[in-house]
Amino acid sequence: MPAHAVSRVPSGGDGPGAAVLRLDGEWRFQLLPSPEAPLADHWARTAVPGCWTMQDFEDIHGVNDLPWYTNVQMPWPAPPPHVPSANPTGVYERAITVPAEWAGRRIVLHVGAAESVLLVRVGGEDVGIGKDSHLASEFDVTDAVRPGEPTVIRLTVVKWSDASFVEDQDQWWHGGITRSVYLYATDPQLYLEDVHVAEASADGSLRVDIRVRASADNGVLPEGWHISGHLDGIGELGPDTAYAEANEADERVSDWLGLARISARVPYVRTWSAETPELYGLTVRLHRADGAVVDQAAYRIGFRTVEILGRNLLVNGVRVLIRGVNRHDFDPLTGRVIDPADMRADLETAKRFGFNAIRTSHYPNDPALLDLADELGLYVVDEADIETHDHAHELADDPRYLAAFVDRVSRMVLRDKNHASVIMWSLGNESDYGVNHDAAAGWVRGYDPTRPPHYEGAVKIDWATAGMAVSDVVCPMYSSIGDIVAHAESGTQTRPLIMCEYSHAMGNSNGTLAEYWSAIESTPGLQGGFIWEFRDHGILQRLADGRPAGPCAPPSTDGVAPPGHRWAYGGDFGEVPNDGVFCADGIFFPDRTPKPAAYEHREIAAPIRLTHTADGHVRVHNRQDVVGLDRFAATWILAAADGSARALPAELPSLAPGTSADVAVPFELPTTGEAWLTLRVTGDGAEICTPSIRLRTEDRALLARADAQIVDTGVIELDDAGLLVHPLLAAAPTLSLWRAPTDNDVLGGMAERWRKWGLEAPARTLVAITREGPRTIVRSEYATEAGPVAHEQVLTPLHGGGVLIEETAMLPGRLDDVARVGSVFETAARHTEAAWFGTGPWETYPDRAMAPVGRHRSTIDALFTPYLRPQESGGRNGVRWIALSEADDDAPGLTIHLDAPRQVSVTRYRAADLARTAHHDELVPLPDRCVVHLDAAHRGLGTASCGPDTLPEYRIAPGVHRWSWTIR
Ligand code: GAL
Ligand code: MG
Repeated sequence: MPAHAVSRVPSGGDGPGAAVLRLDGEWRFQLLPSPEAPLADHWARTAVPGCWTMQDFEDIHGVNDLPWYTNVQMPWPAPPPHVPSANPTGVYERAITVPAEWAGRRIVLHVGAAESVLLVRVGGEDVGIGKDSHLASEFDVTDAVRPGEPTVIRLTVVKWSDASFVEDQDQWWHGGITRSVYLYATDPQLYLEDVHVAEASADGSLRVDIRVRASADNGVLPEGWHISGHLDGIGELGPDTAYAEANEADERVSDWLGLARISARVPYVRTWSAETPELYGLTVRLHRADGAVVDQAAYRIGFRTVEILGRNLLVNGVRVLIRGVNRHDFDPLTGRVIDPADMRADLETAKRFGFNAIRTSHYPNDPALLDLADELGLYVVDEADIETHDHAHELADDPRYLAAFVDRVSRMVLRDKNHASVIMWSLGNESDYGVNHDAAAGWVRGYDPTRPPHYEGAVKIDWATAGMAVSDVVCPMYSSIGDIVAHAESGTQTRPLIMCEYSHAMGNSNGTLAEYWSAIESTPGLQGGFIWEFRDHGILQRLADGRPAGPCAPPSTDGVAPPGHRWAYGGDFGEVPNDGVFCADGIFFPDRTPKPAAYEHREIAAPIRLTHTADGHVRVHNRQDVVGLDRFAATWILAAADGSARALPAELPSLAPGTSADVAVPFELPTTGEAWLTLRVTGDGAEICTPSIRLRTEDRALLARADAQIVDTGVIELDDAGLLVHPLLAAAPTLSLWRAPTDNDVLGGMAERWRKWGLEAPARTLVAITREGPRTIVRSEYATEAGPVAHEQVLTPLHGGGVLIEETAMLPGRLDDVARVGSVFETAARHTEAAWFGTGPWETYPDRAMAPVGRHRSTIDALFTPYLRPQESGGRNGVRWIALSEADDDAPGLTIHLDAPRQVSVTRYRAADLARTAHHDELVPLPDRCVVHLDAAHRGLGTASCGPDTLPEYRIAPGVHRWSWTIR
């Protein structure tokens, strides 16, 4: 049946129009090795919806079909449309008894989504076939079921088909029925075929176009009908026109299509936007001639206008910035079966971290997701289920795939058109550009002129002129800041530029996000983008048998898989070929725990920002597009580098969007030293953002006070290699130039360069030890393939047993891009707690450091971020001092003061151990010590795993580096 927007479940489910029989639950099941294989006599059982690749069931035929991850490459080599002979095929069967009262009614089978080809047999009769793994298929089964008597429904789902070539998205391949299955019944002759909210605009205009199907029973048509409508808070709506057209395909008139329209003008309409998700309940009723309601449909609609004016995308006339994130239907326990509560949690989490937009990468999501986006307020780029990545160039022009392109796009639009949240239609992803796209875009433009079409593949070769027929926005992926700004300033830009993907969140990443946003906010023509992507696609896997753990697994905590489990990525199920850890690229962990980068985004997207004024006041800005600050509460916090902090409730000024007001600094500053002011903003009980500004800079070197503590008579103890021996240390400070490569370092090629240079463990040679008064000078050399690095430590004893360490490293010219320059040492005690003054509390790096400066504390374990594949982790940027201690005993603590704000990390792992471990759960913490890095320079993170490397200003130049610190 054609796609439509008349939902029978859940909103319209119990109305007078339709009765619903839900078929979710246990079904008989056999997984066959291929569609041709014979069925066994014996059946297993499994739950619907469910991915068989994720479920435990009796595998009668020994198919053992597990999740399979590939990015671009198809899992088999044959070209389209050929499929491999090994083709897992799930056969689901269930005997159902349709209520006897359904006799004489029209009965429809709805299969929410099946991956990938669905074949339907009801009562032994073949009823139909469906494709598109992410849209519903409906079948009229009136003639195949006998109400009151048992009928067998068989759903056969074939994994690989010609359609797999258009579903070649970068994600796990699964098989199964992934959304709900149900039957519904309507009047046999008269029912709503579709309802199209064709206009619900910001000025209150409403137009609803309704298609009514009226069919003859033994040649007799229903005797007349009419439509009525109701809008909550407004009242009854009358139809403008109701007319019918006969469809005389054969001489016996059997089918009528009736068209009706409801128009209204809502006075003082409350417009919908991501910041004001105002919805109105709309009910459309279909009446018989006698007035009785025979069918009805209910919607929650929003009044809003989306338009493109020059280089701006406007919502209700306002240029809104798109702070988006790409979201897949993903669940670590079920694969692709997503419950509404999970969808809500995804969207609420996204909003809480400053996102106001979702791209449904790369296929239509469950319609419930759009209900939630309407309700919670998120702009949606709704994307059709088309990605031909491995064969993109061929298929975009292949007439054999023309119908697939047009079907997939048009069926999505037919289904989702009534959602206020949908502001653009995306024709798919990474499928090159060809006439099949032109055809799909033509359909979209004709059917729904109210929303711009969006398609990256068409614009990628030339932003100024390419793809005008199919994309009204320039929506590139992973463009550099330089490129987008240059385009906006070139004078050739004709369309809004909104990146469909940027800032690849793989592992420890999202460097330079703040620079993207300062470019976007200061350059007309740039309007935001969608981070890649929402969650890491790590599947929870049992270590005991290597199978997906499933919904009964013990819970994960803070992003870490429960004991006996791990987050599996490509290859972990033994699949070949695979694309490894490339699927773990979310700004949230598989269990939705935010990564530090999510906080970075939250602060960049902060609705309230602070700046300085010339006269020493603080300027408070409302950075929102539509609303004031009324929903927020806030607290001022003053932090001083001596560790003291004061807090006061804040009175937020009343500010229209885009405006600011100056307020006096609410504290008296301490007499000396650095001081920072943070505004901790909350809304609905949750922390929204913590903008922070410096009120006073340190007025003297951070370490100056150390001078006063030098003891002339103290002795620095060294071992034979000239390394410091000290009771607080298990391993002396040495020079470190390397970090455990991040995914960006690996895929961007830096890790390989560092390996060739021999940076991981360069051999150290002692050159000289000299003693000058209290100072001991140790000169050494580290041998790299790019030449020797000279290193000098000047060690001076301090009162109370501390040491001042002043270091210099000289990098030869060829070492022009190292990971870090700094000290690494290991503590003699297993400290458990850390307190520091610097950015925090979350992990920060030089190019990802949007975090309040102040005194923070954490357990040492919690400093470490459990990236799925271990890598550099746990750093804090801008640290002035850090103290390590033990929670529960009085073992001596350890305090480090730095000469300047520095990048610091304290972990239980050596970089080399991180680098050689494939999964977080395989890491073995050092039992008796901490590993401390203090960096004079640390390379930014960038996003080179897919996109630009870190900017030159965050790379490390060769030459002389100096830093000093005290330990006590
Ligand atoms: C894009 C693509 C996404 C994903 C991403 C990298 O090119 O559209 O599906 O593959 O790169 O993670
Ligand atoms: Mg792809």
